[in-house]
Amino acid sequence: MKGIILAGGLGSRLFPATKVTNKHLLPVYDRPMIYYPIQALVNAGLDDILIVTGGNSAGDFLKLIGNGKEFGLKHVNYTYQQGEGGIAEALGLAEHFAADDDICVILGDNIIQGNLKKARAAYDAQGGGARILLKEVPDPHRFGVAELEGDRILRIVEKPKEPKSNLAVTGIYFFDHTVFEFIRRLEPSARGELEITDVNNYYIDDGRMCWSVLDGWWTDAGTWESLHRAANLVHEGGANRLDL
Ligand code: G1P
Repeated sequence: MKGIILAGGLGSRLFPATKVTNKHLLPVYDRPMIYYPIQALVNAGLDDILIVTGGNSAGDFLKLIGNGKEFGLKHVNYTYQQGEGGIAEALGLAEHFAADDDICVILGDNIIQGNLKKARAAYDAQGGGARILLKEVPDPHRFGVAELEGDRILRIVEKPKEPKSNLAVTGIYFFDHTVFEFIRRLEPSARGELEITDVNNYYIDDGRMCWSVLDGWWTDAGTWESLHRAANLVHEGGANRLDL
């Protein structure tokens, strides 16, 4: 399995802090935001990692992370997303890197308290398809939201005004190589982007989507409120813990 971190975008919800730099380079408590998703992948046993970046300061990722020595890596791969085409477009740029391998994708502003070892083992055991990780949140309208019927996932709705559950779809996804075929079928959404939620709904329609609930806290860090909350959570209990 290979790991992919999506760290492009303009970070407009954090303007003006993102006017001259990339959101994922901003600090969350004591380190740059992008360190957390890298560590999450490394803790899941992944050592072949691609960072998709773009927007401001794309070159600074190379200066900051280099070959990933701080994380015990020997090499890190990078690619560049031109413009603001959305998460699924950014993932599409990883096709060549992924080749025929399964992938674990994490959004560059997603931070977890625990680790992905259990989720990875569950994905490895399910035999292809996709797996998303859900988490109960107080503000589901900010996220992709899962509609469940018992154990079955019916669909995911992106930022619903009236959420059908309080289970947010976290920005952590396991996919087989069919993901790239689905990405090719996408049409831009109302906000002009290729949506990862549409990719996930293709897997659901295909009957090849599994889900689990993530242990420990999870947060994004792409708004002022969530950035502040992320820093507090990391400060209080540490992130990327192996003991959870
Ligand atoms: C994205 C996804 C959304 C997901 C969220 C997790 O939203 O579109 O489905 O719940 O990441 O962080 P965005 O942060 O791009 O608005």
